[in-house]
Amino acid sequence: MEMKVFVVGIGGGVGRRVAKKLTESGDEATGPVRRPQVGNELATEGISTVPGNIVTMSVGDLAGAMRGSDAVVFTAGAGGKDRPDATVQIDGDGPSKLAAAAELAGVRHFILVSVFPEAWRERRMDDDFELYMAEKKKAETKLVLTDLDWVIVRPSALTDRPGAGRVDLGLTKIHDEISRDDVADTIIELLRNPDLHHVILEVTAGAQAIVEAVAAIKGWRIPNAPAREALA
Ligand SMILES: NC(=O)c1ccc[n+]([C@@H]2O[C@H](COP(=O)([O-])OP(=O)(O)OC[C@H]3O[C@@H](n4cnc5c(N)ncnc54)[C@H](OP(=O)(O)O)[C@@H]3O)[C@@H](O)[C@H]2O)c1
Repeated sequence: MEMKVFVVGIGGGVGRRVAKKLTESGDEATGPVRRPQVGNELATEGISTVPGNIVTMSVGDLAGAMRGSDAVVFTAGAGGKDRPDATVQIDGDGPSKLAAAAELAGVRHFILVSVFPEAWRERRMDDDFELYMAEKKKAETKLVLTDLDWVIVRPSALTDRPGAGRVDLGLTKIHDEISRDDVADTIIELLRNPDLHHVILEVTAGAQAIVEAVAAIKGWRIPNAPAREALA
Protein backbone atom coordinates (compact mmCIF):
# COMPACT_ATOMS: atom_id res chain seq x y z
CA MET A 1 0.00 0.00 0.00
CA GLU A 2 1.23 3.45 -0.81
CA MET A 3 2.44 5.63 2.03
CA LYS A 4 2.40 9.38 2.27
CA VAL A 5 5.14 10.79 4.46
CA PHE A 6 5.73 14.37 5.61
CA VAL A 7 9.47 14.93 5.92
CA VAL A 8 10.92 17.95 7.73
CA GLY A 9 14.49 18.29 6.49
CA ILE A 10 13.41 16.98 3.06
CA GLY A 11 16.18 18.94 1.31
CA GLY A 12 18.92 17.61 3.60
CA GLY A 13 21.26 14.66 3.33
CA VAL A 14 19.06 12.06 5.01
CA GLY A 15 15.70 13.70 4.20
CA ARG A 16 16.35 13.94 0.48
CA ARG A 17 17.34 10.28 0.35
CA VAL A 18 14.20 9.25 2.27
CA ALA A 19 12.02 11.28 -0.12
CA LYS A 20 13.77 9.98 -3.22
CA LYS A 21 13.60 6.34 -2.16
CA LEU A 22 9.93 6.65 -1.18
CA THR A 23 9.11 8.25 -4.53
CA GLU A 24 11.01 5.55 -6.42
CA SER A 25 9.01 2.86 -4.66
CA GLY A 26 5.67 4.44 -5.52
CA ASP A 27 5.12 6.10 -2.15
CA GLU A 28 4.84 9.82 -1.65
CA ALA A 29 6.95 12.28 0.31
CA THR A 30 6.49 15.97 0.83
CA GLY A 31 7.76 18.54 3.27
CA PRO A 32 8.65 22.18 3.84
CA VAL A 33 11.64 23.79 2.13
CA ARG A 34 12.88 27.24 3.05
CA ARG A 35 14.88 27.84 -0.14
CA PRO A 36 13.10 27.81 -3.54
CA GLN A 37 16.21 26.31 -5.17
CA VAL A 38 15.83 23.19 -3.00
CA GLY A 39 12.15 22.90 -3.94
CA ASN A 40 13.09 23.15 -7.64
CA GLU A 41 15.79 20.48 -7.30
CA LEU A 42 13.39 18.11 -5.59
CA ALA A 43 10.69 18.82 -8.19
CA THR A 44 13.03 17.54 -10.91
CA GLU A 45 13.09 14.24 -9.01
CA GLY A 46 9.29 14.12 -8.87
CA ILE A 47 9.11 15.24 -5.23
CA SER A 48 6.66 18.01 -4.40
CA THR A 49 7.38 20.30 -1.48
CA VAL A 50 5.71 23.21 0.25
CA PRO A 51 7.50 26.49 0.83
CA GLY A 52 8.04 26.74 4.55
CA ASN A 53 10.32 27.15 7.48
CA ILE A 54 9.70 25.16 10.64
CA VAL A 55 10.75 28.12 12.78
CA THR A 56 8.28 30.58 11.30
CA MET A 57 5.41 28.19 10.46
CA SER A 58 2.73 27.91 13.12
CA VAL A 59 1.56 24.58 14.52
CA GLY A 60 -1.62 25.09 12.49
CA ASP A 61 0.37 25.72 9.27
CA LEU A 62 2.37 22.55 9.82
CA ALA A 63 -0.76 20.54 10.64
CA GLY A 64 -2.40 21.79 7.44
CA ALA A 65 0.66 20.87 5.38
CA MET A 66 0.86 17.32 6.76
CA ARG A 67 -2.86 16.51 6.91
CA GLY A 68 -3.60 13.19 5.19
CA SER A 69 -0.05 11.88 5.71
CA ASP A 70 0.52 8.43 7.18
CA ALA A 71 3.66 9.45 9.03
CA VAL A 72 6.00 12.30 9.86
CA VAL A 73 9.79 12.23 9.85
CA PHE A 74 11.88 14.95 11.49
CA THR A 75 15.41 14.93 10.09
CA ALA A 76 16.14 18.66 9.97
CA GLY A 77 18.98 20.29 11.78
CA ALA A 78 20.80 23.58 12.02
CA GLY A 79 23.95 21.58 11.29
CA GLY A 80 26.20 24.04 13.06
CA LYS A 81 25.88 26.28 10.00
CA ASP A 82 23.62 28.83 11.64
CA ARG A 83 23.75 30.72 14.93
CA PRO A 84 23.32 28.89 18.26
CA ASP A 85 19.74 30.13 18.50
CA ALA A 86 19.04 28.20 15.28
CA THR A 87 20.17 25.03 17.04
CA VAL A 88 17.64 25.76 19.79
CA GLN A 89 14.85 26.64 17.35
CA ILE A 90 15.40 23.78 14.90
CA ASP A 91 17.04 20.83 16.68
CA GLY A 92 15.57 21.60 20.10
CA ASP A 93 12.14 23.12 19.55
CA GLY A 94 11.41 21.88 16.01
CA PRO A 95 10.43 18.30 16.89
CA SER A 96 7.96 19.28 19.63
CA LYS A 97 6.35 21.85 17.36
CA LEU A 98 6.03 19.20 14.67
CA ALA A 99 4.67 16.74 17.22
CA ALA A 100 1.98 19.25 18.27
CA ALA A 101 1.09 19.66 14.59
CA ALA A 102 0.98 15.88 14.11
CA GLU A 103 -1.41 15.55 17.05
CA LEU A 104 -3.60 18.29 15.58
CA ALA A 105 -3.58 16.67 12.13
CA GLY A 106 -4.15 13.17 13.54
CA VAL A 107 -0.90 11.80 12.12
CA ARG A 108 0.24 9.38 14.80
CA HIS A 109 3.40 7.77 13.42
CA PHE A 110 6.38 10.06 14.15
CA ILE A 111 10.02 9.26 13.49
CA LEU A 112 12.63 11.58 14.99
CA VAL A 113 16.23 11.44 13.78
CA SER A 114 18.36 12.26 16.81
CA VAL A 115 21.94 11.59 17.87
CA PHE A 116 23.86 9.08 20.03
CA PRO A 117 24.17 10.57 23.54
CA GLU A 118 27.69 9.06 23.52
CA ALA A 119 28.70 10.92 20.34
CA TRP A 120 32.26 12.22 20.74
CA ARG A 121 32.12 11.99 24.55
CA GLU A 122 35.75 10.91 24.43
CA ARG A 123 36.71 14.24 22.83
CA ARG A 124 36.61 17.78 24.12
CA MET A 125 33.95 19.48 22.01
CA ASP A 126 33.12 23.16 21.64
CA ASP A 127 30.14 24.99 23.13
CA ASP A 128 28.14 24.78 19.89
CA PHE A 129 28.40 21.00 19.88
CA GLU A 130 27.43 20.77 23.55
CA LEU A 131 24.39 22.96 22.87
CA TYR A 132 23.48 20.71 19.94
CA MET A 133 23.66 17.63 22.17
CA ALA A 134 21.56 19.26 24.88
CA GLU A 135 18.93 20.39 22.38
CA LYS A 136 18.73 16.96 20.75
CA LYS A 137 18.17 15.42 24.19
CA LYS A 138 15.51 18.03 24.99
CA ALA A 139 13.70 17.15 21.76
CA GLU A 140 13.79 13.42 22.55
CA THR A 141 12.47 14.00 26.07
CA LYS A 142 9.54 16.08 24.85
CA LEU A 143 8.64 13.60 22.13
CA VAL A 144 8.47 10.57 24.42
CA LEU A 145 5.98 12.45 26.60
CA THR A 146 3.52 12.88 23.72
CA ASP A 147 0.72 10.48 22.89
CA LEU A 148 2.09 9.88 19.40
CA ASP A 149 3.40 6.56 18.09
CA TRP A 150 6.97 7.79 18.21
CA VAL A 151 10.21 6.16 17.17
CA ILE A 152 13.55 7.83 17.88
CA VAL A 153 16.42 6.80 15.60
CA ARG A 154 19.92 7.81 16.68
CA PRO A 155 22.41 7.36 13.85
CA SER A 156 26.16 7.44 14.48
CA ALA A 157 28.32 9.90 12.51
CA LEU A 158 26.84 10.35 9.02
CA THR A 159 28.81 9.83 5.81
CA ASP A 160 27.90 10.24 2.15
CA ARG A 161 29.31 6.84 1.23
CA PRO A 162 27.01 4.53 -0.76
CA GLY A 163 24.71 2.46 1.40
CA ALA A 164 25.50 -1.15 2.15
CA GLY A 165 21.91 -2.15 2.88
CA ARG A 166 23.22 -3.56 6.17
CA VAL A 167 23.29 -2.01 9.63
CA ASP A 168 23.75 -2.69 13.30
CA LEU A 169 20.43 -1.59 14.84
CA GLY A 170 19.34 -1.89 18.44
CA LEU A 171 18.94 -0.24 21.80
CA THR A 172 22.58 0.56 22.52
CA LYS A 173 25.33 0.51 19.93
CA ILE A 174 28.93 1.66 19.66
CA HIS A 175 29.17 5.16 18.18
CA ASP A 176 30.98 4.88 14.85
CA GLU A 177 29.84 5.80 11.33
CA ILE A 178 26.93 5.08 9.01
CA SER A 179 26.03 6.26 5.53
CA ARG A 180 23.06 8.59 5.10
CA ASP A 181 21.84 6.08 2.53
CA ASP A 182 21.60 3.32 5.13
CA VAL A 183 19.94 5.67 7.62
CA ALA A 184 17.36 6.57 4.97
CA ASP A 185 16.66 2.90 4.23
CA THR A 186 16.35 2.18 7.96
CA ILE A 187 13.84 5.01 8.35
CA ILE A 188 11.83 3.70 5.40
CA GLU A 189 11.75 0.20 6.86
CA LEU A 190 10.56 1.66 10.16
CA LEU A 191 7.89 3.61 8.25
CA ARG A 192 6.73 0.32 6.71
CA ASN A 193 6.30 -1.10 10.23
CA PRO A 194 3.98 1.40 11.93
CA ASP A 195 3.13 -1.06 14.70
CA LEU A 196 6.73 -0.72 15.97
CA HIS A 197 6.82 2.40 18.14
CA HIS A 198 7.68 3.70 21.61
CA VAL A 199 11.28 2.66 21.08
CA ILE A 200 14.61 4.49 20.92
CA LEU A 201 17.00 2.83 18.48
CA GLU A 202 20.66 3.38 17.77
CA VAL A 203 21.96 2.54 14.32
CA THR A 204 25.46 2.30 12.92
CA ALA A 205 27.10 0.48 10.02
CA GLY A 206 26.81 -3.27 10.45
CA ALA A 207 26.24 -6.67 8.96
CA GLN A 208 22.51 -7.29 9.23
CA ALA A 209 20.20 -6.61 6.29
CA ILE A 210 18.01 -3.62 7.17
CA VAL A 211 14.74 -5.52 6.67
CA GLU A 212 15.97 -8.26 9.00
CA ALA A 213 17.29 -5.77 11.54
CA VAL A 214 13.90 -4.10 11.86
CA ALA A 215 12.10 -7.46 11.88
CA ALA A 216 14.35 -8.62 14.73
CA ILE A 217 13.34 -5.63 16.82
CA LYS A 218 9.68 -6.30 16.10
CA GLY A 219 10.26 -9.75 17.50
CA TRP A 220 11.22 -8.37 20.89
CA ARG A 221 8.57 -8.13 23.53
CA ILE A 222 8.61 -4.41 24.19
CA PRO A 223 6.33 -3.55 27.12
CA ASN A 224 3.79 -0.82 26.61
CA ALA A 225 4.98 2.62 27.61
CA PRO A 226 3.58 3.80 30.95
CA ALA A 227 0.76 6.30 30.74
CA ARG A 228 1.89 9.88 30.58
CA GLU A 229 0.21 10.64 33.92
CA ALA A 230 2.36 7.99 35.59
CA LEU A 231 5.47 9.96 34.59
CA ALA A 232 4.21 13.27 35.96
N1 LIG B 1 26.02 14.89 10.85
C1 LIG B 1 26.07 13.84 11.63
O1 LIG B 1 27.08 13.13 11.73
C2 LIG B 1 24.85 13.47 12.43
C3 LIG B 1 24.94 12.42 13.34
C4 LIG B 1 23.79 12.04 14.03
C5 LIG B 1 22.58 12.68 13.80
N2 LIG B 1 22.53 13.72 12.92
C6 LIG B 1 21.21 14.34 12.69
O2 LIG B 1 20.68 13.69 11.54
C7 LIG B 1 19.73 14.56 10.90
C8 LIG B 1 20.00 14.58 9.41
O3 LIG B 1 21.32 15.04 9.18
P1 LIG B 1 21.76 15.52 7.71
O4 LIG B 1 23.24 15.62 7.72
O5 LIG B 1 21.06 14.71 6.70
O6 LIG B 1 21.13 16.97 7.71
P2 LIG B 1 21.42 18.20 6.73
O7 LIG B 1 21.96 17.70 5.42
O8 LIG B 1 22.18 19.23 7.49
O9 LIG B 1 19.94 18.69 6.42
C9 LIG B 1 19.19 19.37 7.34
C10 LIG B 1 17.98 19.90 6.60
O10 LIG B 1 17.17 20.59 7.53
C11 LIG B 1 16.65 21.71 6.86
N3 LIG B 1 16.28 22.78 7.77
C12 LIG B 1 17.07 23.41 8.65
N4 LIG B 1 16.37 24.36 9.28
C13 LIG B 1 15.12 24.32 8.77
C14 LIG B 1 13.95 25.08 9.00
N5 LIG B 1 13.94 26.08 9.88
N6 LIG B 1 12.82 24.77 8.31
C15 LIG B 1 12.84 23.77 7.41
N7 LIG B 1 13.93 23.02 7.13
C16 LIG B 1 15.04 23.31 7.80
C17 LIG B 1 17.80 22.19 5.98
O11 LIG B 1 17.31 23.07 5.00
P3 LIG B 1 18.27 23.98 4.10
O12 LIG B 1 18.61 23.07 2.95
O13 LIG B 1 17.44 25.14 3.75
O14 LIG B 1 19.47 24.33 4.96
C18 LIG B 1 18.31 20.87 5.47
O15 LIG B 1 17.63 20.50 4.32
C19 LIG B 1 19.85 15.90 11.60
O16 LIG B 1 18.80 16.02 12.53
C20 LIG B 1 21.18 15.80 12.33
O17 LIG B 1 21.21 16.60 13.49
C21 LIG B 1 23.63 14.12 12.24
